[in-house]
Amino acid sequence: MKTPVRVAVTGAAGQIGYALLFRIASGEMLGKDQPVILQMLELPMEKAQAALKGVMMELEDCAFPLLAGMVGTDDPKVAFKDADYALLVGAMPRGPGMERKDLLLKNAEIFTVQGKALNDVASRNVKVLVVGNPANTNAYIAMKSAPSLKAANFTAMLRLDHNRALSQLANKANVAVADIKKMVVWGNHSPTMYPDYRFATVGGASLKDKINDADWNANTFIPVVGKRGAAIIEARGLSSAASAANAAIDHMRDWALGTNGEWVTMGVPSDGSYGIPEGVMYGVPVTCANGEYTRVEGLPVDEFSRAAMDKTLAELEEERSGVAHLL
Ligand code: NAD
Ligand code: LMR
Repeated sequence: MKTPVRVAVTGAAGQIGYALLFRIASGEMLGKDQPVILQMLELPMEKAQAALKGVMMELEDCAFPLLAGMVGTDDPKVAFKDADYALLVGAMPRGPGMERKDLLLKNAEIFTVQGKALNDVASRNVKVLVVGNPANTNAYIAMKSAPSLKAANFTAMLRLDHNRALSQLANKANVAVADIKKMVVWGNHSPTMYPDYRFATVGGASLKDKINDADWNANTFIPVVGKRGAAIIEARGLSSAASAANAAIDHMRDWALGTNGEWVTMGVPSDGSYGIPEGVMYGVPVTCANGEYTRVEGLPVDEFSRAAMDKTLAELEEERSGVAHLL
């Protein structure tokens, strides 16, 4: 057996937390040979702490062989102590009629506090995934609040959008999801995101050639993927939870264990490529190996794509200026 690693999860008693923790403890995120110590953060309020206690009782009742320890706390410095992985989920979700950026000022402070706590106590190699919305800008805030950690280790979740895009494409082309490779979602986890299947293949052949429908791309595919979160809220009365937890597992598993050369989408601080200014937390295609992600470089950007990529960038820059006073 490997040495246990410490996995911090915030918002542990929330909807996503409930769909996430049991899968981490069962080895679906870091492998069936990797014991984990779960370090769970919730708000100090009595109701939140009681709910967290209940979740911990249920985790205990699963008798997971890989669960090597548990900590439940309302103190970020306890939750993040020596953390190897940190999944920052705890934040307010949006309700019907709201955009994710409407949460910006409500949630931003959480990420300054938690970024600082990570900076002070987490492992120097901690891998951070921000799920709480607006995820890209919250990840940017956390990264800026943690100057002694590697900026590249702060990431935002675009994987739900990536997975949503795969399913829409599989339905349209009548192919299996697993056969679609080289999907990309550029930019912000918001309706301005640009799901881009220009490079996608199925069985090695171009998926774009198979679908060949610019009108469907512009007027159905892109808006359906971009507004899927709102459609779920409309249908469920609550924001996505199981699919969000699943995407968080996919993101961390691939980052930790590798993608075998396959492309996945991660929101990462830009290195200046693709015309995206350095530091902007932007969805890009990556491959992962040996615990590191590497951008897929040199993809051509046509006129339609440039406009779409710049639109989502402009929104991220606007969000960033809205929180500049906190940094
Ligand atoms: P939820 O309200 O069910 O749970 C959030 C939990 O976080 C609550 O238990 C709350 O007490 C806790 N919390 C709030 N502030 C906290 C803090 N400072 N420290 C620790 N815990 C805190 O919400 P949810 O459905 O689990 O969603 C959580 C967040 O994830 C929301 O912001 C939602 O919009 C976002 N989300 C993002 C994606 C994505 O793809 N990036 C997908 C789905 C949901
Ligand atoms: C989603 O995409 O489902 C989440 O970001 C929740 C939301 O507010 O849309």
